[in-house]
Amino acid sequence: MKKWKGIILAGGNGSRLFPLTQAVNKHLLPVYDKPMIYYPLTTLMLGGLRDFIIISDPEALNQIRTLLGDGTRWGIAIAYRTQERAGGIAECFRIAAADIAGCNVAVALGDNIFYGAGLPRLLSQAMIHETGATIFGYEVADPSGFGVVVLDTTGRAIDLEEKPKAMRSRLAVPGLYFYDERVVAISNEIRPSARGELEITDVNRHYLATGDLRVTLFGRGVAWLDGGTHRDLYEASQFVKVIEERTGLKIACPEEVALRMKFIDQPAFELLIDPNPKTDYQLYLRSLLEASPLTER
Ligand code: G1P
Repeated sequence: MKKWKGIILAGGNGSRLFPLTQAVNKHLLPVYDKPMIYYPLTTLMLGGLRDFIIISDPEALNQIRTLLGDGTRWGIAIAYRTQERAGGIAECFRIAAADIAGCNVAVALGDNIFYGAGLPRLLSQAMIHETGATIFGYEVADPSGFGVVVLDTTGRAIDLEEKPKAMRSRLAVPGLYFYDERVVAISNEIRPSARGELEITDVNRHYLATGDLRVTLFGRGVAWLDGGTHRDLYEASQFVKVIEERTGLKIACPEEVALRMKFIDQPAFELLIDPNPKTDYQLYLRSLLEASPLTER
């Protein structure tokens, strides 16, 4: 069985969120009650991934490392690698080439938020495939700000386009991708786009051209949001707040995901809980011990 590693890309200037991102990296901004990067990290953890490389600029990496550490307490391993300037998503494969050599790799963009009961199954299905690439398609009202996938009448992917000017498809491609080990060589072949970035869409086009791209549609069972603009960020926070208050369960709580995925056992989980919890977050962790049966929630 191929080993899978996870890359979380937390680079970029976050220019659309200025001045919020003047002094703070976008991926550390709150999405309601948690830092943004908790969301893609727990998404990949729910797929069973335990080995991560986080990529960002040097200053942000220090802060992200302060937040997440080496992952041991959550039963995962996190390495940190530097992206000096915003060179595009596909640059991550060049940066992490030594870390992912001989492995398959799942990539999550640090500002993408996924939620839904169907998600773990979709992720583990993508990882059954040891060769080729798997991307997702998600119907949106306005696809112009995303990569899109164009399907033919039989549902087969025939084209991919980054930030399309003309509406050819309403299927946006979310920032969650699964690749075989060829992705490093492919990323070395592609050239920067007009905006000066190595585009993930060009990597996906490569797999499409060789007939090695699988496109799985997210049905209504999965919600996909991002935190790219002020409005997106605000709406993502509202979404998380509404779901969490209604259900009493948190979205993207790494301690909880680590326990449910059995990356840590109950005694290790208890060590993560403050004996005198004063914050809602700590009270929530404590409540998980009292709830039963844990596995059914
Ligand atoms: C990036 C990708 C795009 C993808 C989007 C998902 O866009 O280039 O293909 O659909 O993330 O969030 P960017 O956020 O760099 O504009």
